[in-house]
Amino acid sequence: MQDISDISGGVKAPRHLAIIMDGNGRWAQARGKQRISGHKEGANAVRRVISACVKYGVKELTLFAFSSENWKRPALEVNALMTLFVQAIKKESKSLKANGIKTCIIGDKTRFPSLLQDQIRKVEELTADCDVMRLNIAANYGGRWEILQAAKKLAQQCQDGTLNINELTEDKISQNLDIVTDVDLLVRTSGEQRISNFLIWQLSYAEMYFTNTYWPDFGEEDLLKAFDFYNGRERRFGMTSAQIQEKTTK
Ligand code: IPE
Ligand code: IPE
Ligand code: MG
Repeated sequence: MQDISDISGGVKAPRHLAIIMDGNGRWAQARGKQRISGHKEGANAVRRVISACVKYGVKELTLFAFSSENWKRPALEVNALMTLFVQAIKKESKSLKANGIKTCIIGDKTRFPSLLQDQIRKVEELTADCDVMRLNIAANYGGRWEILQAAKKLAQQCQDGTLNINELTEDKISQNLDIVTDVDLLVRTSGEQRISNFLIWQLSYAEMYFTNTYWPDFGEEDLLKAFDFYNGRERRFGMTSAQIQEKTTK
């Protein structure tokens, strides 16, 4: 396989990138089109960004595709989105596998149509052994829901006697979430600057990049701008700047 550092041109990418892919509806409305055509175009942006992330060596990419709150949208839009998911997973499965992308769908899958649940199971099985990049697609996902699931699992372990409550740590909570690793960089498109119940635990020390670009227009160049922003930040994790500089020069 080609060395990633060769094709990435020395770009330093965050290890775990998370994206709130927002603005599909406004992208369509600005063109006098139906919202759904924005979602279709958004699917092309997903493809572009996944390829670019592999190219630049991102190890984990988490995409917010559908929130637990998005069921409140008109049935026509929700149904069209479900159909798009099924089509996209079906179409992309082979290429995800070929590119070594371990694909996981995170969220409450029980509310999805059975056809979609089948497709999800298939792509997760097909790519289970892939190790170039992990792709998490958050669908019917909510950060509070994810923490609640972890709390239930841990409470059960305490009840069974397999976990002593005094041994409950932050790490144990992380390990019982669907997304275990902390996010390094969060990107949100479309000018909104809020979290919308996405990865509330894992974002605790993430850098945040907001752009006015609507998701369907987002591509490799925008991603590189986000990486530039990220690389310009000093991540202090509570320490002073002097301490960080001392660490990096050691
Ligand atoms: C994001 O775009 C996609 C989903 C939430 C499914 P939106 O559909 O939220 O687009 P806007 O915010 O209405 O422009
Ligand atoms: C958040 O987008 C969820 C996704 C991008 C899938 P929304 O556009 O639904 O978020 P709010 O409700 O405007 O915050
Ligand atoms: Mg939106």
